[in-house]
Amino acid sequence: MSVMVVVGGQWGDEGKGKIIDSLAEKVKMVVRFSGGDNAGHTVINPYGEFKMHLVPSGIFYSQVTCIIGNGVVVNPAVLLRELDELRSHGINVSQLIVSDRAHLIMPYHILLDELEEERRGKGALGTTRRGIGPAFTDKVTRLGIRAGSLLKEKLFLEQLSSALEFKNAIFTKVYQHSPLLLEEISKQYCRYGEQLAPFIKETTSIINQAMVRGEPILLEGAQGTLLDLDFGTYPYVTSSSPLAGGASVGSGIGPRALDRIVGVFKAYLSRVGSGPMPTELRDKVGELIREKAHEYGATTGRPRRCGWFDAVAARFSVQVNGFSDIALTHLDIYDDFPSIKICTAYKLGGKVIDSFPSSAVVLEECQPIYEELPGWQMSTSGIRDFTQLPLEARRYIARLEELLSCPVSWVAVGPTREQLIER
Ligand code: GDP
Ligand code: IMO
Ligand code: MG
Repeated sequence: MSVMVVVGGQWGDEGKGKIIDSLAEKVKMVVRFSGGDNAGHTVINPYGEFKMHLVPSGIFYSQVTCIIGNGVVVNPAVLLRELDELRSHGINVSQLIVSDRAHLIMPYHILLDELEEERRGKGALGTTRRGIGPAFTDKVTRLGIRAGSLLKEKLFLEQLSSALEFKNAIFTKVYQHSPLLLEEISKQYCRYGEQLAPFIKETTSIINQAMVRGEPILLEGAQGTLLDLDFGTYPYVTSSSPLAGGASVGSGIGPRALDRIVGVFKAYLSRVGSGPMPTELRDKVGELIREKAHEYGATTGRPRRCGWFDAVAARFSVQVNGFSDIALTHLDIYDDFPSIKICTAYKLGGKVIDSFPSSAVVLEECQPIYEELPGWQMSTSGIRDFTQLPLEARRYIARLEELLSCPVSWVAVGPTREQLIER
């Protein structure tokens, strides 16, 4: 393995943090490449339980350099809090580097995220209200402020005052909201700048040197394919690209260098926030999954919507990412189920379709067509050898591989680092 990308194959929360924490043992570098602190990656290892929002999940290994890549939007307050939390558990965070190209989340982004969601009313997207959309908007409209500016106070103040003038016009004229104060924000961010200065660096050369030395690198995705700005269920998506393609742009590693592209999928499906989800279970089974798997948002605490595995959506995800491997998580959640359903096609207006529609309005009308497989009704959480999995579990996995035309190379049977079967 030299460069391996780990991407969410569904609507996020597939267990990427756990997979990275397990795989990082064998690498020298982990790079987060997209999203911001809308991500919540749970890691449970000998140091404790952590919800990682910005720091790559490889931070627990002293040999791993962890990079917050250029494709990430960084809220400095959240990052500093996360670093404090890690330090309080005895974890050395000195091997963290923040790309000087990463854009900053500013207080006006968070306020705008809230005001925009409120304005959408019933049509709210259900964002995490972390200012992600407005920060990426500023990046694209070229009004953003990058982490590197925190190292140059004069430049930072110039950029802040011009951005804030624009934002305050929106707050006061569009939203009838009081303006934000330049002095307050500049003081606050200058303090953040002092604390974060040792971490902020140009990162493409550091990554390139590691590649020249032939060191194995993991690229840690955030969110999931179905939340992608282009290929997700627009407009119920996030504002960056969680795809394998996004890994290249968000880290500065050319696509030819990506050796393995791993899609993380839950054995079922979950979604948090608004938008269509054909296999959602609004019944006792959905509740059972939610309670068994503690399906509550790692970032917002919201209950996650749960449903059966959607092979139509998953096949689409394999296509747009070009996955070489799948890491299937949460197999243990099905341990007591007498039978398990997989959605293999949709019914739409009297017709059967097996492709994933580009329109969220159309997807909303799709009815799942299920295939039912027998369950195994025994505990898998202590199993570490693929051949020891019950026959029905292996049949379930084999059926997914067939439907997705992609091999399942890892199976997770519990939330801790060691509950991972490598095939
Ligand atoms: P991420 O955002 O993709 O890193 O996923 P989250 O951390 O938001 O959500 C995944 C949840 O499932 C967390 O609570 C993990 O501790 C847990 N988890 C991960 N893998 C497994 C697994 O194989 N089985 C079970 N039962 N829980 C898992
Ligand atoms: P991880 O990395 C699940 C969802 C939000 C909302 C939509 C847009 O933990 O898998 P945003 O705040 O990004 O503008 O919200 O995207 N969302 C996630 N859902 N896991 C995530 O990250 C998510 N990050 C954003 O709930 O529906
Ligand atoms: Mg998560």
